[in-house]
Amino acid sequence: MTTGLVPTMGALHDGHRALLRAARAENDRVVMSLFVNPAQFGPAEDFDRYPRDEQRDRDIAGQEGVDEVYAPSVEEMYPPGFATHVVSDLGGRLEGDARPGHFEGVATVVLKLFLRVAPDRAYFGQKDAQQLAVIRRMVRDLDVPVEVRSVPTQREPDGLALSSRNAYLNAEERGRAASLHRALVARDASLIEGDVEYFESVDPDTFEPAPVEAGALLVAAARFGNTRLIDNVMLEDV
Ligand code: PAJ
Repeated sequence: MTTGLVPTMGALHDGHRALLRAARAENDRVVMSLFVNPAQFGPAEDFDRYPRDEQRDRDIAGQEGVDEVYAPSVEEMYPPGFATHVVSDLGGRLEGDARPGHFEGVATVVLKLFLRVAPDRAYFGQKDAQQLAVIRRMVRDLDVPVEVRSVPTQREPDGLALSSRNAYLNAEERGRAASLHRALVARDASLIEGDVEYFESVDPDTFEPAPVEAGALLVAAARFGNTRLIDNVMLEDV
């Protein structure tokens, strides 16, 4: 009897569905966690306005064959005086630099979810590649008995990676947002029709800078209006 865990913050889209399907295909029991984790949002970030629709999320989970939706409250997750954090050296660059404390919040809540749900496997999207690397490293370094599985990035027809935050884009910004993926595929940051925060080739395990060649990961972050989007592509042989 194996359990697959899919950690989410809700506002489910087809990217989450791909994770749920992978978990359903590979496990006897599937648990989806639904928890908008305050610890991974900065003080000026969108925790308060993050899209929330628990009934819709539960309906989607049902459609994808989820056996249990685990939706703890913030009080249940973080007891008064909560003070113990999982910190990763991998989390200081790129996303970690742009969002101080973000990966600490992610790693901490994911470890707590692993301990509470005790899954055999857990599923994460390649979309959030640095998050995936931080979690893989945590699992390796701390001997966490969970197999981390990754799922390819699900995209709109024009290449825009599905994201809960795409809902913040107006029509004009939505049009320009597709340039992020086009630029990654073309390996040319100048194609991004927004404010570029970073555009870098990195080692997919360490997130240290790496030559632009097969096996490296090209990662980018850009703002379209007030909305900050991230994406990445794995570099193949040319
Ligand atoms: P959330 O943004 O809800 O994403 C949940 C999972 O869905 C993550 O593993 C993410 O990488 C994956 N995902 C998002 N968009 C995707 C896409 N277009 N294609 C494939 N997978 C995609 O990531 C989080 O929540 C949180 O940080 C969490 C891990 C739940 C910890 O709080």
